[in-house]
Order: sequence, then C-alpha cells, then structure tokens
Amino acid sequence: MQTMIIAHRGASKQAPENTLPAFDLAWQAGAEGIETDVQLTKDHVPVLIHDERINRTTNGSGYVKDYTFNELKQFDAGGWFDKSFSGTGIISLDDFLNWLSDKPLYLNLELKNNKIEYKDLEVIVVEHLNHYRILNDTTLSSFNPHSIERLNQMNPEIDTALLVSKKRGADVVQKAHSIGAKSLHIKYKFLTPALAAQCRQKNIALRVFTVNSSRRMAHCFQTACTGIFTDLPDKALQFRHVFNNHAPRHH
Ligand code: G3P
Ligand code: MG
Repeated sequence: MQTMIIAHRGASKQAPENTLPAFDLAWQAGAEGIETDVQLTKDHVPVLIHDERINRTTNGSGYVKDYTFNELKQFDAGGWFDKSFSGTGIISLDDFLNWLSDKPLYLNLELKNNKIEYKDLEVIVVEHLNHYRILNDTTLSSFNPHSIERLNQMNPEIDTALLVSKKRGADVVQKAHSIGAKSLHIKYKFLTPALAAQCRQKNIALRVFTVNSSRRMAHCFQTACTGIFTDLPDKALQFRHVFNNHAPRHH
C-alpha cells in the first residue's frame, strides 16, 4: 500500500485552515483524506477549529467554549489568511459531514480535548458520524489517552489513534497498543525506520504530521508510513508520483 496523502486542516497553505475553501481545494487537488480539528461550543455543537481560542484564526477573541454556535458563525475565519477569503465562516462538524457525504475521502477527526476536557465530546462526535454512516471510515485521534480509552469503551470497533508530539521515549508504540489505539499519529521528528517496523509488527497504522517538504515526504514514503498529514496535498501527490517512478525496484 502506498502512503496516503491527507490534507492537514484542508489545503491549509492555500486557504484558511479548517474552512470549506480549504477542504474544497484539498478535494480538487486529489487528496485522499482530510484531517480536521474538533472543539465544542457553549451549546455543545462540535465545530472545526484548531485552537481553543478564536483569536488566531478569526477576527474575534475568546474561547470557543464560551460562544454558542450562532454567535461563533458571526466571526470572519478567512480574512486573517487573505482578504480574498473574507466572509468565510467557522463551520460545524455537521456542515462538514454534509459536504463530505458524497465524496470518497478518508477522514481523520482530531478531538481537541487535551487542553480542555470537553464533557461528552466523544459521544457527541460518534453520534454525528453514525448519523452520516461514516463511523467505519473515520479515524478518531486525540493527544489525550483517556479520550482514546473512552472511545474504545463506547465501541471497540472505532478506529482510534493516539497522537504524540512530545518525546516519550521508545514506548510510544507500546503505549498506543496498551490503550487499544489502532493507529499512532506522530510528529515528523520521531519517525525512524525502527519505529515504523515496530508499528508494523504490532499491526498499528502509522501516520506522520506535518509533512510539507520533499525531504520529509521522501523519508515517509521510504519508511512506508500509512499516511502523511500535509498542508500541501497537491505537492505531495506530485512528489509521490515522481518518488514511485524513481524508487529502486526489488526483484
Ligand atoms: O492530527 C495531526 C495534527 O493535526 C496534530 O497536531 O496541532 O496540527 O492539530 P495539530
Ligand atoms: Mg490537528
């Protein structure tokens, strides 16, 4: 299997991250999957935004959890990136799943519950995925191992992924395995052939973030990672094509 190209927050170098234009561009580029981040509003609506606060990616300020979805929708989530995107709004998970529903894209929803423990986030997200009948085609990831355990308790069939961005020593694969995660999502700097081999041995899918340079892409393809999260899906697709045609063949 070749390494899957997953658009990180959509095509987030070309359009404001986690917005419909960014997802649309990723789809048009031919990305095979989309990664996006989920937080919860004051009225318990799952919305797609990376930070706990809206300051960096909108014209507003304050915490997502202190606004209702209707209030959040009033902010501009595109103008900060480029004024041609002014008027682009924050979208709900529901808006996104509607957009996704006629597209054969792999989905990775990252539950942003490592800083704020949003109550019932797992239950709410799983209900939405069930409603759209795409729970089986989705990986649910989190930096919070307790959230992974809660998801596995709810339904052991859920494809859960443990996210790792800090050095935890050599035990990350064991940690993922012990909490029942089926995948491990790591920061690029932790990728080694040994870690990739350990994952294969334990039957754990390995995906790597954030992979934007050709050098990093080549390393991920060489180690046969399951997938890469990239802000540049069009570049990654082109590069993978070239890489596949130049890789030494084994007879
Ligand atoms: O899910 C992979 C990656 O998105 C995790 O880090 O901070 O970009 O959400 P972050
Ligand atoms: Mg993310």
